Amino acid sequence: MPVDMNGMPVDYDAVAAFAGKHGLRVISDSAESLGALYKGRRVGSIAPVHIFSFFPNKNITTGEGGMLTTGQDYRYNHIHLGFNYRMPNLPAALGLEQLKRIEFIVAEKQKIVDRYNEAFKDDPIISPPFLPYYVDQHSWYMYAINLKEGIDRDAVVEELKKRGIDTRLSFPPVHIQPYYMNRFGFTEDSYPESFGAWSRLINLPVWVGLTNTDQDRVISELKNIVSAMEAPV
Ligand SMILES: Cc1ncc(COP(=O)(O)O)c(C=O)c1O
Repeated sequence: MPVDMNGMPVDYDAVAAFAGKHGLRVISDSAESLGALYKGRRVGSIAPVHIFSFFPNKNITTGEGGMLTTGQDYRYNHIHLGFNYRMPNLPAALGLEQLKRIEFIVAEKQKIVDRYNEAFKDDPIISPPFLPYYVDQHSWYMYAINLKEGIDRDAVVEELKKRGIDTRLSFPPVHIQPYYMNRFGFTEDSYPESFGAWSRLINLPVWVGLTNTDQDRVISELKNIVSAMEAPV
């Protein structure tokens, strides 16, 4: 079950090769990547099953609920035992209208992302997200910057908050959830790469409707905060 983290497609060919080698079936958690493209193909049509979330914080919403995309046989012909986990028609109607806007939503987010990328491209402390060659379009559910090692990420978030700038830290790696720590005895260091990657990231505002003026303020406040932290005392 690979996850298209923050809306960036995973390398599906590599996942399929691995799954094939081990006799596994792939169910892709594409909750965040509606509208993204992998090697020119729409996410939803690549793995045998993709799941999408339409929770209100996603690029489109039906209030609650989601969608699975699969291959299909033909009508009235059942090849597996199935269950009616139907979405009610009213949320589905909302979702169908929302779906018409997905390309607009992703394009608007892309404009915001381009401005951030330009602002951070030569920054010594802030790195914009890295996109592998196989990603033709990110859904930009989240825009995650990476801070240089040694910068106190939580202090940066706190300073931004004081200046009225909201951020997210999605998501803490699963091994530091208290449930898993208690159950399996994990510590932060059990998976140092994922813990390290998370402890350096901040999700910046990337919502459709963010004005250039507000975005410029996010950029300049952030740069001021991190450069003050880096300055020798
Ligand atoms: C990667 C990922 N998977 C699964 C979910 C769960 O989706 P839902 O809230 O629709 O159950 C979310 C977000 O809510 C998500 O971001």
